[in-house]
Amino acid sequence: MTTAQSQTAARGPAIQVQGVQKSFGELQVLRGVDFDVAAGSIFALLGSNGAGKTTLVRILSTLLKADAGTATVHGFDVAAKPGDVRESISLTGQFAAVDEILTGRENLVLVARLRHLADPGAVADELLARFSLTEAGGRRAGTYSGGMRRRLDIAMSLIGDPPIIFLDEPTTGLDPQARIEVWETVKKLAQGGTTVLLTTQYLDEAEQLADRIAILHQGTIIQNGTLAELKQLLPPAKVEYVEKQPSLEDVFLSLVGATGTEKES
Ligand SMILES: Nc1ncnc2c1ncn2[C@@H]1O[C@H](COP(=O)(O)OP(=O)(O)OP(=O)(O)O)[C@@H](O)[C@H]1O
Ligand SMILES: [Mg+2]
Repeated sequence: MTTAQSQTAARGPAIQVQGVQKSFGELQVLRGVDFDVAAGSIFALLGSNGAGKTTLVRILSTLLKADAGTATVHGFDVAAKPGDVRESISLTGQFAAVDEILTGRENLVLVARLRHLADPGAVADELLARFSLTEAGGRRAGTYSGGMRRRLDIAMSLIGDPPIIFLDEPTTGLDPQARIEVWETVKKLAQGGTTVLLTTQYLDEAEQLADRIAILHQGTIIQNGTLAELKQLLPPAKVEYVEKQPSLEDVFLSLVGATGTEKES
């Protein structure tokens, strides 16, 4: 555990959101959003297109000011201490920050230099290994598949070991195999003590990854619980005896092979 992570534990929830509101002109996007994220957990914010997920992530990462309400990240108020918040987080946006002209390794070295780390080359090599990109590290990122690019993007966001990371739709646009690779990455991060807040439109992504799931709908959190708690909201399914057909996803994955290796999916 890094010093930063143990400090979070001492402070309680890694993220606290209370009564956050945000409008764009006449459009009320967030109408009073409340939730907490426990340190070291994976929290999924689920919502349809336009629900306000990115807006909320931008508020929590200090890129946008809320109209009302409070939010603290790693114990720091986002409005009063934006600099401290920024030092405690990383943000991987809906659109990757990877430079296509540079190689994977050069992208990582660049970020490590910007963060004034002692040995940028060693930092880059460690992350390439962790994200199964060692072989691809010497190639221009422009030649990477979507999954490789997203893994590189997440690797870049981890430089400097931020205790909290925001992943805005980490797997949108990826094929099923690449999605599984990103999921494995996110699970490993949380096992290492990092707090993860991710947004997604995919129910199965939340189901696979999240310790808690909150549903953002029409400006508020309409449900917040563990997967088991959310499932209890529906009456138990009627027991029916049917032959179980594989899903299209099962078939696709068994044909292409769902491995976590350096595949150019
Ligand atoms: N800067 C802005 N100015 C005006 N309207 C905005 C702005 N940013 C977001 N909106 C609007 O706010 C609403 C919420 O947008 P947001 O990007 O937060 O949704 P989202 O849940 O992230 O959607 P998606 O799943 O498509 O990424 C949308 O109707 C969007 O058009
Ligand atoms: Mg969005």
